[in-house]
Amino acid sequence: MSTTPLVTALNSLKQYIWHPCPLEACKTTGQIKRFIHVSTDEVYGETEEDAVVGNHEASQLLPTNPYSATKAGAEMLVMAYGRSYGLPVITTRGNNVYGPNQFPEKLIPKFILLAMKGKTLPIHGDGSNVRSYLYCEDVAEAFEVILHKAPRNNAPAQKSSLKFLIYGRTGWIGGLLGKICDKQGIPYEYGRGRLQERSQLLADIQTVKPTHVFNAAGVTGRPNVDWCETHKPETIRTNVVGTLTLADVCREHGLLVINYATGCIFEFDDAHPLGSGIGFKEEDTPNFTGSFYSKTKAMVEELLKEYDNVCTLRVRMPISSDLSNPRNFITKISRYNKVVNIPNSMTILDELLPISVEMAKRNCRGIWNFTNPGVVSHNEILEMYKKYIDPSFNWVNFTLEEQAKVIVAPRSNNELDASKLKREFPEMLSIKDSLIKYVFEPNKKTSA
Ligand SMILES: NC(=O)c1ccc[n+]([C@@H]2O[C@H](COP(=O)([O-])OP(=O)(O)OC[C@H]3O[C@@H](n4cnc5c(N)ncnc54)[C@H](OP(=O)(O)O)[C@@H]3O)[C@@H](O)[C@H]2O)c1
Repeated sequence: MSTTPLVTALNSLKQYIWHPCPLEACKTTGQIKRFIHVSTDEVYGETEEDAVVGNHEASQLLPTNPYSATKAGAEMLVMAYGRSYGLPVITTRGNNVYGPNQFPEKLIPKFILLAMKGKTLPIHGDGSNVRSYLYCEDVAEAFEVILHKAPRNNAPAQKSSLKFLIYGRTGWIGGLLGKICDKQGIPYEYGRGRLQERSQLLADIQTVKPTHVFNAAGVTGRPNVDWCETHKPETIRTNVVGTLTLADVCREHGLLVINYATGCIFEFDDAHPLGSGIGFKEEDTPNFTGSFYSKTKAMVEELLKEYDNVCTLRVRMPISSDLSNPRNFITKISRYNKVVNIPNSMTILDELLPISVEMAKRNCRGIWNFTNPGVVSHNEILEMYKKYIDPSFNWVNFTLEEQAKVIVAPRSNNELDASKLKREFPEMLSIKDSLIKYVFEPNKKTSA
């Protein structure tokens, strides 16, 4: 390489200095999730002959020829864009690649071709120099890993390289998401547009320049989902037209949407009976359309499968540590005159919403049962409530038939199989352990 003409070598640096250069362009869009700069091990210079340990990433860069000096210079520019502008850069330092169809002037094909012609093989120096080699398919595989799994080089800039656009500012889940971003130092803005207004969503994306979009907007009905039975066009407008419009606009802009959907699109059936421990899986087709709310959500989930930029999270009976929030499942059932008693899958927001943020960073897509593993019944929760919060608390149960008389639309009861989420996040707690850790222990008012 020491014979590489200076002018050719400078091309490596020039690509980053000349305008418009890729770094500058990526900084301007603000939408790049990974910027991989392919550098070379030659930036380290020569390794001592008797070196016991090879160069590591923090080794001093001591390029010995113009080619490697320009590669080292380019690395500096890449690093600076990562540090200054939060560009999510990754620099790889590979060494000599070999494999089929390589240019004939490279060492291995050159020696093979010369040997085939019976010619002598020219070797630098006394032949004692050593080089490391990488097979081209291994290199391609390594890039695949780096692309999908590698942390970014500039750890401190990592957070600022994210920018979330969140829909649902005034809502329960949307509000909690903002607090999580505040806590984690992730820049975010709430969307101003209505979901069904394409031009407003486009304006949000242009203004905010997000890296990820979170959809916690939806019509849920007040005081409850029965509202949707008498407001069908309004429910369709947001939950169907709006959600699909957001997915479509984001797809056009290469943006991942984390979509807080619902698991209330299933009910126990012969293949998944109550108490069996057999939960509905991600690929199962919704079987509950008893309420108009659930019907619209099931229809949209089916259509969203065609959008590969969407991560659908099936939330169920969400619970948070804020026991004063009337939307909280615990708050609801502790205030009802009578409650049914059915084991169900549920979502502990304090544990799972931060997981959804991590899912965005990991670029998770497709459908996910977004509940803690296992089920918990109404009575089991109220027993915990009595134990941790109010020993004098009592409640009365009634049957599903009796419940049907006080609500307009039927409600879904089911178990979702959370093993896909558990595989991705092995530390996730079972529903009962999560309830104790995230809800009852922090709110404990008794000596339990
Ligand atoms: N809470 C639950 O029990 C539960 C269970 C499972 C799934 N989910 C799903 O999770 C999502 C969030 O639930 P949540 O409990 O946080 O709901 P929420 O408290 O009712 O909040 C809904 C949010 O959506 C916004 N919104 C409604 N229509 C909109 C539209 N057309 N364009 C833009 N924003 C709109 C509302 O804003 P405005 O006030 O400005 O209208 C509000 O900020 C919903 O899709 C819901 O279906 C909730």
